[in-house]
Amino acid sequence: MEITPEALEWREAYKLLIGSILPRPIAFVSTVDVDGIANAAPFSFFTAICADPMLICFSPMRRGKDGAKKDTLVNIENTGQFVINIVSERMAEQMNDCAIEFTPEIDEFEETGLTKEPGHKVKVPRIAESLVHLECELHQVLHFGDKPGSGSLVIGKVVHVHIKDELMDKGRIDTGLLKPIGRMAGNIFTDPLAKTFEMKRR
Ligand SMILES: Cc1cc2nc3c(=O)[nH]c(=O)nc-3n(C[C@H](O)[C@H](O)[C@H](O)COP(=O)(O)O)c2cc1C
Repeated sequence: MEITPEALEWREAYKLLIGSILPRPIAFVSTVDVDGIANAAPFSFFTAICADPMLICFSPMRRGKDGAKKDTLVNIENTGQFVINIVSERMAEQMNDCAIEFTPEIDEFEETGLTKEPGHKVKVPRIAESLVHLECELHQVLHFGDKPGSGSLVIGKVVHVHIKDELMDKGRIDTGLLKPIGRMAGNIFTDPLAKTFEMKRR
């Protein structure tokens, strides 16, 4: 089958992306609005960019119904700060509930029972249930349109890293203890450690 993206309705193109690029890691992004109300939402269009400077990026798409910016993006543009909270299996349901389209005045921490922990270098709460936190300052945001299905790329500079002590083993994170989860297509999630194999570099 040969497909020209421009000929597709955006939801069809989206399905091809999420069915091809997987499993995807999940950035559970916490932010605050201009009045200090906290927000938390998951984003699986997420990856690392480089180590020095330590940069990460994720992509909030425009809302499907009206093309509006998601609260996370609005908050980051207004405050210049956010925290990436890494999602472990035991907090999967709360993460999923934070994907509900709550109105901006609703604090997802209070709605889902997540616990706030203050940031060290940013004025954004971390999600205490996460075992790894990347505190970020906004480096750059790129916009790719304002209609449903379009989106933005948020690039963050990591200014502080928190890792639970028990996770660290000789400078590396013990991923078996972290128990990260990944997103597949639709409502399917995966345990990326369920079946792993090693390949030495030649
Ligand atoms: C696991 C998971 C991953 C998601 N990834 C994305 C994503 O990469 N981009 C996006 O725009 N929305 C994504 N969503 C949907 C947002 O989390 C959802 O629109 C949320 O309501 C946005 O919240 P906000 O308006 O508070 O920013 C994802 C949802 C789930 C459950």
